[in-house]
Amino acid sequence: MAKTTVSDLDLNGKKVLMRVDFNVPIKDGVVGDTSRIVGAIPTIKYVIEHGGKAVLFSHLGRIKSEDDKEGLSLRPVAEKLSELINKPVTFVPETEGKKLEDSVNDMNNGDILLVQNTRYEDVVDGENIKRESKNDPKLGKYWASLGDCFVNDAFGTAHREHASNVGIARAMEANNKPVAAGFLMEKEIKFIGGAVNDPKRPFVAILGGAKVSDKIGVIDNLLGKADKIIIGGGMTYTFYAAKGYSIGNSLVEKDKIDTAKEILQKGGDKIVLPIDSVVAPEFKNDAPTEVVGEDIPDGQMALDIGPKSIKLFEDVLRDAKTVVWNGPMGVFEMSNFAEGTLSVGRFLGDLKDATTVVGGGDSTAAVNQLGVADKLSHVSTGGGASLEYMEGKTLPGIASITDK
Ligand code: 3PG
Repeated sequence: MAKTTVSDLDLNGKKVLMRVDFNVPIKDGVVGDTSRIVGAIPTIKYVIEHGGKAVLFSHLGRIKSEDDKEGLSLRPVAEKLSELINKPVTFVPETEGKKLEDSVNDMNNGDILLVQNTRYEDVVDGENIKRESKNDPKLGKYWASLGDCFVNDAFGTAHREHASNVGIARAMEANNKPVAAGFLMEKEIKFIGGAVNDPKRPFVAILGGAKVSDKIGVIDNLLGKADKIIIGGGMTYTFYAAKGYSIGNSLVEKDKIDTAKEILQKGGDKIVLPIDSVVAPEFKNDAPTEVVGEDIPDGQMALDIGPKSIKLFEDVLRDAKTVVWNGPMGVFEMSNFAEGTLSVGRFLGDLKDATTVVGGGDSTAAVNQLGVADKLSHVSTGGGASLEYMEGKTLPGIASITDK
């Protein structure tokens, strides 16, 4: 169902409440990866260029005690946003109260304001009552009362039902005020939803990562939709165990071997597993390596896919018209076991006439490291959210945006 978007709204002179996902890595007060901030800028710019007053809400990290608050202030993010958008951003270090209300009421058209971390509301007077994370309706109602309309651009948070996304949306709708998607949210829905639900064929999914248990939902959903499912990463060896290969000291989820058997049976030749692996006796970057076939020798653990698997995966991907990729092919964070993941990223960057969608931390890091992100159709800003969306789940953050 198509959603109302920010371009459907009359923004001039309006206090536009916006949920963004600025849950970004911060070390010693310095913002690391800025892609989530950069991703929200087109919507923020659109709002201010159309005369709106942009009031931004985001969470950052998880707050369980008063002590957590200081290190999880959004102040460094306000500074980074100001630098990236080249405009002043007022930071209000409160989530409630007169100072916040006055600051919003004092805004001029085209101004930007960032409210303190919404999860500060999870701990009130030292008590971990989770007002934000449990979607206390009073909190959503209070925040909604600060503005004239609500734009949700926080795809990364769409799998959460919290006061600052779903709560504000419900309170706005109850007052007949508009609730719309931002451009980033719209793009994520279009590319991930479009790839999974209405793909151009052949449609190939590449799923990696350590655990079968993290990907069961996605595999289940995609078995009925994809033409091929390439599997790589640590979860491969649970599938190997299901096929009766020896796996040495490789990662295995013993309680998921039966699930892996069922997937292999259901998927048949749709499922493409690696045919060789780079192994080492220790989980260390400088451990001696060798390439082995489908049986992993005793005393060795598989840490990356091997060159024959890379070639096999490229052959499967060559004619694909839609590709979704989530999860690394090996221990990507160690340079000696990164080649499988990097090769997939490189190949996708060169794929012509295909819609290519990448989600998940390591696969996103790989395409960024290779500098191929711009050659892909879409690199998702969602981790858990993109996975749950690929599982075919209804995401509360999306469901709460008004249908067109
Ligand atoms: C994410 O980083 O996946 C989102 O911002 C959601 O964060 P959360 O898992 O702390 O709710």
